[in-house]
Amino acid sequence: MILTNALRTLISKAGAYRAVFAAWNRTNIRSATSVGSGAGSARPPQVTDKNSRPPLQDHGGCPIIQRVHSLASHVKSTFDFHWSLNNDDRLPAAKRQAALRFLAPALKLAETATQVRCLDAGCGDGVHLSVLEAEAGPTTVCTGLDISRAALGKALAVGQGNWRLIQGDVGMLPFADNSFDLTISFGVLAYTGQPWQGLAELCRVTRPGGLVGVWFSPKPSGGTRRVLSVVRTLARVIGPFWRSRLADLIVPFLPILPTVSGISLFNASWRQCREVVLVNIAPPTLMYPTQDEVEVEITRCSVQLEWRDPEMPITIWARKT
Ligand SMILES: C[S@@+](CC[C@H](N)C(=O)[O-])C[C@H]1O[C@@H](n2cnc3c(N)ncnc32)[C@H](O)[C@@H]1O
Repeated sequence: MILTNALRTLISKAGAYRAVFAAWNRTNIRSATSVGSGAGSARPPQVTDKNSRPPLQDHGGCPIIQRVHSLASHVKSTFDFHWSLNNDDRLPAAKRQAALRFLAPALKLAETATQVRCLDAGCGDGVHLSVLEAEAGPTTVCTGLDISRAALGKALAVGQGNWRLIQGDVGMLPFADNSFDLTISFGVLAYTGQPWQGLAELCRVTRPGGLVGVWFSPKPSGGTRRVLSVVRTLARVIGPFWRSRLADLIVPFLPILPTVSGISLFNASWRQCREVVLVNIAPPTLMYPTQDEVEVEITRCSVQLEWRDPEMPITIWARKT
């Protein structure tokens, strides 16, 4: 009885914490300036209608999408929270290494092209754009899109103002058809609640002959799945403050925990580790498609499968036909 009451109180407090946090987050977004380089950064925020597609942009502007559908707004506040806890702008070497491996097909494309217009949808701190720019050189024109403004703030620092950064939803990309030579999305679609819509959007904005590259986390199995499921249930009810403390407790164990992305955080900072833990223990929503499901869905989008990484599931590259 006492335990039930205590649990009820905890759950009701979690709701209150969430409401306070959401209000705080909304205020911050409204008062923030747009994220991006050049003339785009001076634009006033644009409010788009709840269910409509954001205005189409060519390569000159940075729309600020403040209202997205309710799931996306929950995803946004969760990721804003995660990214705002990680204020370390140094990208861990292992993260760059994993990005380099993922980007191998893209770098081949860049070798032969005079210019590569690249979109990273769900760019986070911009690790993939950064590696692409470093490896492919000045032929790359980088656009990063993320639902979280806090993530874009980090990408802004990493890209040193050279990239166009847009706050938006991968499920409703604010770009015209065929706008990019290369479209990537690493570890993003599974969090969106509508991964196939996002996948279709990635393919839509890629030009014929261009490449689309995606990475999904495979489903954890056995003991890992069971432990993760208990920790996630706990993380859902305890509210943001205790969730961060729970993540802090897990951080020291990261080097010995199984990772599927191939990214070892051994030399990463505490804050970076905590952000990764939070994404895993408190995903706003998360699904685990199989490799086959991703392949079936992507081939519905006028593309041909080009490459899958057998050692790093689920890595899929396709060429738009
Ligand atoms: C696990 S992180 C991966 C970030 C980055 N791709 C990387 O590899 O480091 C997932 C990212 O997807 C972003 N995200 C989640 N849902 C999104 C959506 N519907 N549209 C755009 N970005 C989204 C989050 O804000 C977060 O930055």
